[in-house]
Amino acid sequence: MHTPVLLQQAIEKLDIKKDGLYVDATYGEGGYTKEIIKKGGKVLAIDLDIEQIQKPKFPPKMAGKKNLNLIQGNFAEIEKIAKENNFFPVDGVVFDLGLSMNQLENSGRGFSYKKLEDDLDMRLDLSQEMTAKELLRKLTVFDLTEILEKYSEEVNAKKIAKVIKNSQKMEKVKDLVLAIDKALGKKDEKTYARIFQALRIAINHEFENLEKGLAGVLKIIKKGGRIVVVTFHSLEDRVVKKFVLQNHLKFVDKKPVFGVKSFERSAKLRTIII
Ligand SMILES: C[S@@+](CC[C@H](N)C(=O)[O-])C[C@H]1O[C@@H](n2cnc3c(N)ncnc32)[C@H](O)[C@@H]1O
Repeated sequence: MHTPVLLQQAIEKLDIKKDGLYVDATYGEGGYTKEIIKKGGKVLAIDLDIEQIQKPKFPPKMAGKKNLNLIQGNFAEIEKIAKENNFFPVDGVVFDLGLSMNQLENSGRGFSYKKLEDDLDMRLDLSQEMTAKELLRKLTVFDLTEILEKYSEEVNAKKIAKVIKNSQKMEKVKDLVLAIDKALGKKDEKTYARIFQALRIAINHEFENLEKGLAGVLKIIKKGGRIVVVTFHSLEDRVVKKFVLQNHLKFVDKKPVFGVKSFERSAKLRTIII
């Protein structure tokens, strides 16, 4: 299994107590959940992607036991999920945002610009109707430009949006990569990564979910509890900082802990104390 970025640091910051209750809001490959259980915590693990939940990851001894409750759901509804499962008040919550390596490499949903034959889908929640190709079909050049500028800070957003909208076919990853090449007049992997990330953020309403998720945590966490958030995007980090400011909370450390580069991005870890 791929070791998630900042795993050890995040677990240390969560300050696991034996028999404490912890929500792993982004279960993924289960790396964080496994560490929390090893340290004696009980975990409610959530993932929006049903395939992440269904894939067996733990040795049978650990899976299906009373210290792990695995739920397919959106962390935007963390309060509802925790209450429905009678899992509160909690000692800590961890959000490890973005995608897991498995989703990028093997989901077939077009999250990576390297998977040229993948369909442009990009949904984490497979029950959602809107896919990336449908979004690209529906949006006007103006709205698409706005999304690309907002979520990727792409300087060529308008040029790229125009070529996308003028393309005959926009079904597969290769169609989008070709459109970007055409707009730029060259191949540029950094631009591909930014554009793919921006579309994924838009399709999955990632920043709205994070805002709702953080607000929901306040309804289920104990005084003195900790929220650990690993972000990969400056706008995500901004959501976290705004949440702390608006709710008069405190970070444990003044500066974030920085992680090694992963999928061409660097990670930032912040710990909030309630
Ligand atoms: C970077 S991975 C987490 C990796 C995990 N910490 C591990 O140890 O393997 C992020 C996960 O969060 C999930 N996710 C993203 N948005 C979500 C949301 N709104 N609600 C629940 N899960 C979400 C993704 O499907 C993905 O599996």
